[in-house]
Amino acid sequence: MAKPLEAELVVAPDLEALSRLAARRATEVVAGVAAAGGRCTIALSGGTTPRRLYELLASDHRLGAPWQQAEWFWGDERCVPPDHPDSNYRMAFEVLLGPLRVPSDMVHRIACGGAPDDAESSAAAYEAVLRDRLTGGRFDLVFLGVGADGHTASLFPGAPSLEEREHWALAVTGGPGLAVRRRITLTYPVLNRSRTVFMLAAGGGKHPVIQRMLDGGRTDPAARVRPEGDLVWFLDDAARYGAAGGRPATA
Ligand code: 6PG
Repeated sequence: MAKPLEAELVVAPDLEALSRLAARRATEVVAGVAAAGGRCTIALSGGTTPRRLYELLASDHRLGAPWQQAEWFWGDERCVPPDHPDSNYRMAFEVLLGPLRVPSDMVHRIACGGAPDDAESSAAAYEAVLRDRLTGGRFDLVFLGVGADGHTASLFPGAPSLEEREHWALAVTGGPGLAVRRRITLTYPVLNRSRTVFMLAAGGGKHPVIQRMLDGGRTDPAARVRPEGDLVWFLDDAARYGAAGGRPATA
């Protein structure tokens, strides 16, 4: 079976099992960086898939790594206030950073409040923080999700942001189907320097894009995440084999 992008493939029966495996591996990564004396930098994904993973980090794994000494970032953010239901910051703070009591000066929220003219300046300000805080310009650990259309972070199919070679963060406008179109996203120049990237995908809706990548496709934005370090895909059976399941007996 071809692996997507020469990555490690971890397939679990369902989202709960996927989340437990990813939480354990994430804890190992962060504990390892700390043990080596590093200041761990972590970029969180938005969306719904990582929520359970975050809950597990804050509960089962709360003592497994020095989470309060890590610096926390986001792979993308919707341009809404931090208390908005669609805010990626809000979800992560509620289920992870708040319960772990991560000090506020270790949390680098992408401040993009939704005013029409602040997205560009928000992206520039966020990039300045990244260039200041990332050791060697690299994240130690990045969590990313995958949309059914193949997007990741807020890197959408056909968008000019896919061709960015210099900036590490951009203001983008997603398609008309999105509840919040104006967003800030990390770009490939910084994503692909990461030491470890976890890509999470669950549910049959993600199977077509996963299958395209398993078949060697490289056009989906998620397929173009090719970090210098480790790339691990965490999939549930439905994302890997389709909603009908169909995990081969030999798998
Ligand atoms: C966002 C995310 C986005 C997400 C995918 C998958 O801000 O929406 O960064 O890239 O990871 O859309 O979302 P689900 O996990 O909800 O399927």
